[in-house]
Amino acid sequence: MAEGSTRDGPIPPSLLAAEEALLGLRHDPDADSRRANLALAQRGLDDGRIAAKTAGTDSRAALGIHTRIVDALALLARIEGVATPQRDDLLRVDQQLGVVEPILEILDPELLATIQERVRVSPLARQLAALRRAASGDLTPVGGPSSAGKIRSKAGREARPGAQPLAGEELERRLEELLLQDRFPPPREFVARSRVTDASLHARAELDPDGFWAEQARELHWDQPFTTVVDESNPPFYKWFGDGKLNASYNCIDRHVEAGHGERVAFHWAGEEGEYRAVTYAALSRDVQRLANALEQLGVRKGDVVGVYLPMIPEVVVAMLACARIGAPHNVVFGGFAPEAVRERMRVSQAKALITVDGARRKGKIAPVKAAVDEAMRDLRWLEHVVVVRHTGIETPMSDGRDAFYDELLAAADPDCAAEPMDSEHPLFILYSSGSTAKPKGIVHTTGGYLTGVSATHGYVFDLDPERDVFWCSADVGWITGHSYSVYGPLCNGATSVMFEGAPDYPHRAIWWELIERHGVTIFYTSPTAIRLCMKWGVQHPNAHDLSSLRLLGTEGEPINPKAWLWYHVVVGRERCPIVDTWWQTETGQIMIAPLPGLTATKPGSAAQPLPGVAADVVDEATGASVEHGQGLLVLTRPWPGMLRTLYDDDDRYVRTYWSRFGSHTYLVGDAAIRDKDGYLWIVGRIDETIKVAGQRLSPAEVESAIVAHPKVAEAAVVAQSDELTGQAIVAFVTLQGQLEGTSEIDGEIREHVADQIGELARPRRIFWTDELPRTRSGKIMRRLLRDIAEGRALGQVTKLREPRR
Ligand code: WTA
Repeated sequence: MAEGSTRDGPIPPSLLAAEEALLGLRHDPDADSRRANLALAQRGLDDGRIAAKTAGTDSRAALGIHTRIVDALALLARIEGVATPQRDDLLRVDQQLGVVEPILEILDPELLATIQERVRVSPLARQLAALRRAASGDLTPVGGPSSAGKIRSKAGREARPGAQPLAGEELERRLEELLLQDRFPPPREFVARSRVTDASLHARAELDPDGFWAEQARELHWDQPFTTVVDESNPPFYKWFGDGKLNASYNCIDRHVEAGHGERVAFHWAGEEGEYRAVTYAALSRDVQRLANALEQLGVRKGDVVGVYLPMIPEVVVAMLACARIGAPHNVVFGGFAPEAVRERMRVSQAKALITVDGARRKGKIAPVKAAVDEAMRDLRWLEHVVVVRHTGIETPMSDGRDAFYDELLAAADPDCAAEPMDSEHPLFILYSSGSTAKPKGIVHTTGGYLTGVSATHGYVFDLDPERDVFWCSADVGWITGHSYSVYGPLCNGATSVMFEGAPDYPHRAIWWELIERHGVTIFYTSPTAIRLCMKWGVQHPNAHDLSSLRLLGTEGEPINPKAWLWYHVVVGRERCPIVDTWWQTETGQIMIAPLPGLTATKPGSAAQPLPGVAADVVDEATGASVEHGQGLLVLTRPWPGMLRTLYDDDDRYVRTYWSRFGSHTYLVGDAAIRDKDGYLWIVGRIDETIKVAGQRLSPAEVESAIVAHPKVAEAAVVAQSDELTGQAIVAFVTLQGQLEGTSEIDGEIREHVADQIGELARPRRIFWTDELPRTRSGKIMRRLLRDIAEGRALGQVTKLREPRR
């Protein structure tokens, strides 16, 4: 390491302190002191840069300072892992290295070697190497650190129209070039046919947000027009379009059929084994009316909750819309959840009926869903009826008086069922999502505001033209993304969508691209985890297909790393398609922060700016004051139509969780975010303990209680570990009962048990055995320390914790 004392000239003491502070960070689990040390390091770096500038580039003083800065940055990168260095940091490191290297080569080769070694072993190395290679081509880094963002490769500036699929080194080179491109303006051809190109849209909506949302709402069919927009008299219990009446299923179906679009395909459904069904709006209308009548026959009334536990088959849409038609809020449970988790969600929502399936297909196997559901629902008092869709045709146990087959009900039902106008604030659905406790939150969405929010954003963000586009949102209908952008948004807009039953690698790893080609998909919306998975499988799969129908790509649910963004852009979008990175939540119901594809220049990894009509802010954690540039808590400062209205049966928790930290007018999102100098928002991650595995929200407490339910377990704590593929993975620290020793059998048993209780997605990646969980003096589990151990940052700190013996 550079010895400051051997250098001439003034090295700011704060820069020297920066290194100390960074070294101190290595084993420090305490959040406050980490933050303080990071701030100290940052200050040192800033002072260093100023001092270096003053000293010029040719003096020994400047050399000493630069060397220190490089050291500190490399250290920072190594300690904080790959997440920290942003492109600006990288460029700074590179520029400083560029300055010091030639001089050091003459003056102090030993020191140079030390620095190079340090950089080589840091996570910066690869990125720096890429940067260098690109620079040796047509890139000329110019300007000081602050202009780093403006550096562009010539090749990166222009899209490659009609680009051929790239592979191998050529692809690597292209990705490296583009890594230096700061922004991606909307491609000209896209803008030429985009429906949203009016740059004043944001400003107009900002001048009169209520007017803006009212205008969006009027795109729907109202049986009784509304006269009020948002009622803010009892915050945070906001009401939207309070005196209006409408029916969601009418808006999703009848309206289009009446307009003469009955024969338009609503869903191109693709089955796992290559089956195909075209589901038209007219067909949806027929089935929805019959099922709605059948449910009423069974005694389901307006306001009764109906559970839906189905795979990705057209019947799931029919089930949701039939509920909506008669005003029975649906409670859809993701098909990947275990029956025990379904039971819990049925129990807490007091569901009266459940619509499920005989069996579900998964990669060539059939899971006997109905039999498992029977076992789980055993004694649920409220659950009076189970409707069973025959999908796989497997032998299915049926209980007399309680169970009925879906097809038989439909055949016997009256074909006409008028859509009953509902109050705008009538609950449309409940969707359970994980919070910070073991008890899932029943997020309640209502009718008029939700439909306004999802239909407007589906139109704007995806630039939808229902006459021409084929839309595909790959999310399962059991998540909010499936509700809003596989079902309600597209159907309200009269869109044609693709629905796929299976996994992205069954029957083969090119199935997604094959479906895009076959159905001429123009807009594709998926998750960063899925993109990373496809990256891992290789470009040969997308490259083997004609993806030229695509014109727009989207991502959702988790931060996307620039590398995955660029791969998506180059390999899938062939550099023609803008990417909309959409930030939102189960609670927000609708997309809140996202680029408008015909207007916004995108930055890989940033969800850009709040959509028109949406007000978001980044505020200081302690004071709540707005942070102009930098990191803080993300909040929403104005109600929006698609917002949740409460948590089912728990108004208190609703207020406490979202509306107490900064008052009843400020919605606490629960994410930290950075606002950059251009006002772009970068979502950093959750501020609570919520874990996102493959973009799916899980509560550590929920997993912990499943682990503790295993008879051999005394105590457990669950934390997230970062994972290259799934974003985060679950790591469990487990104390066994009595004298039991952790073995690979018990490890397997516990992991299996969690999958049984909650679902595959909650299966812990790793288990650490521990005699005792580390706790603070007040008895709280030291989760930060556990996270450091899980990440391999602090092993050896706690002698009582051991790696699993396998
Ligand atoms: C995260 C999913 C970064 C965030 C629609 C949020 C994102 C949580 C993004 C909600 C994004 C969602 N970039 N992070 N574009 N979108 N998140 O309820 O932490 O499953 O609070 O809704 O996902 O997850 P949920």
